[in-house]
Amino acid sequence: MTTQWDKHDMTFLQGRRLRRPRMASWSRDLVRENTLAPSDLIWPIFVVEGQNERQPIKTMPGVERLSIDLAVEAAKAAHAEGIPALALFPNTDPSKRTENGREATNRDNLVCRTLSAIKDAVPEIGLVADVALDPYTSHGHDGVMDGDEILNDATVAILVQQALVQARAGADVIAPSDMMDGRIGAIREALDEEGLDNTIVLSYAAKYASAFYGPFREAVGSGARLKGTKLSYQMDPANSEDAIREVEQDLAEGADWIMVKPGMLYLDICRMLKDRFDVPVFAYQISGEYAMIAIAAEAGALERDAAMAESLMAFKRAGCSGILTYFALDMARKING
Ligand code: PBG
Repeated sequence: MTTQWDKHDMTFLQGRRLRRPRMASWSRDLVRENTLAPSDLIWPIFVVEGQNERQPIKTMPGVERLSIDLAVEAAKAAHAEGIPALALFPNTDPSKRTENGREATNRDNLVCRTLSAIKDAVPEIGLVADVALDPYTSHGHDGVMDGDEILNDATVAILVQQALVQARAGADVIAPSDMMDGRIGAIREALDEEGLDNTIVLSYAAKYASAFYGPFREAVGSGARLKGTKLSYQMDPANSEDAIREVEQDLAEGADWIMVKPGMLYLDICRMLKDRFDVPVFAYQISGEYAMIAIAAEAGALERDAAMAESLMAFKRAGCSGILTYFALDMARKING
């Protein structure tokens, strides 16, 4: 009796030889479900004052802060490899960091000068500008403070001005990463009022209070200053429903695209949001995720190129339209051969 069923199962299993299409490279190519192209990548770049200045970031081997002239060269290299966009992050001079982060709204600040220099030299490349106060505040938080509290509405008022100076300087995409409530609607309204209605808003909608931002905070120089945690505004890593509410809210306020951050540790959130909302989902392979791979590769524990490629393909499998990654140029060069 049971033999018959066993036999049936065997026949079925023998008919299904799952290894057959894996045998040759041509058949693997033919049935591959996801592909990774340079056009999937956004390259985050750290900028610093100076001329011909390159500063290695200790915790991110292979990543450097660049002065504006070198950031322009980086933009040319990225464009030549088919990378559609860059995201810019400033390391603000300590003398310009204040309690209220006012330098963020200076139309001649480092980021604005970088935006216009790159726009002039490489007008075809998309430029993403981060909206948040942490590179500009003396305390390293993304908003202004009253005692220990990060003030929501007072911060939003400054973020709106920050978004406007960035958009006027040449940012194509305004990407608020601050996690204040109501900032997407306020920024969208101000952009439209100022005739900047073509500026895209990419909301860091699902941004978690992560331990993996450490190397970024070294890169922008906010880490050593940071007092306390960002748990009162960034999301609890234990939650996924909160991501749905954040995205619903940001879309209702006018976000064009949404982002999940960190990315690698939150691929479940990427997939959930992609299945639930008909909107492009981006993910940020953040500094700590980059560092895990880059440092492990330096230690001989991983093969850098293979680990990089596999980590980035994971985002495509999870449904992401684009990936912010410090590997962007290396990955694009590898794909282009
Ligand atoms: C802050 C901001 C952070 C990152 C991008 N924008 C850090 C933070 O929230 O503390 C992190 C990116 C990375 O780790 O690569 N507005």
